[in-house]
Amino acid sequence: MKNIHEFEIKNMLRLAAEARERAYVPYSGFRVGACVKTGSGAYYLGCNIENAAFTPTSCAERTAMFKAVYEGERYFEAIAIISDSLNCTAPCGVCRQVLAEFCDPDMPVICADKDGNYELFELGELLPIAFMKKDMQTV
Ligand code: THU
Repeated sequence: MKNIHEFEIKNMLRLAAEARERAYVPYSGFRVGACVKTGSGAYYLGCNIENAAFTPTSCAERTAMFKAVYEGERYFEAIAIISDSLNCTAPCGVCRQVLAEFCDPDMPVICADKDGNYELFELGELLPIAFMKKDMQTV
């Protein structure tokens, strides 16, 4: 796993908790916030944004990642996720795939419960054998 200091983990969880305040969750009432840190040290925050048709819902992780990618970011150091749950929240399968597009398999994924107690994973253990550009090679 890429090195990440306890201080930085706490900082990213604080930012993710701020993002959680912005969650738009009229259907589940379950708020999630995410913070991604880029290679240049910038932070991008995201919350979950739900939809009456359910499937268009964006998870907090994807909101944060897409904001960053839109701004031109392509290298990421870590992601922190915090929700309203009693248990640590790990990214859903779709978000794991989005993370795999831009982030190294050894990138730390910080998964916190509502109080900020966290578990640390690396992306590659959450999504081994991700489908990547190389898998589309036909000749
Ligand atoms: N959700 C996230 O934002 N991130 C996750 O990692 C898990 C699920 C959101 C989607 C939906 O708005 C709500 O949590 C319940 O699934």
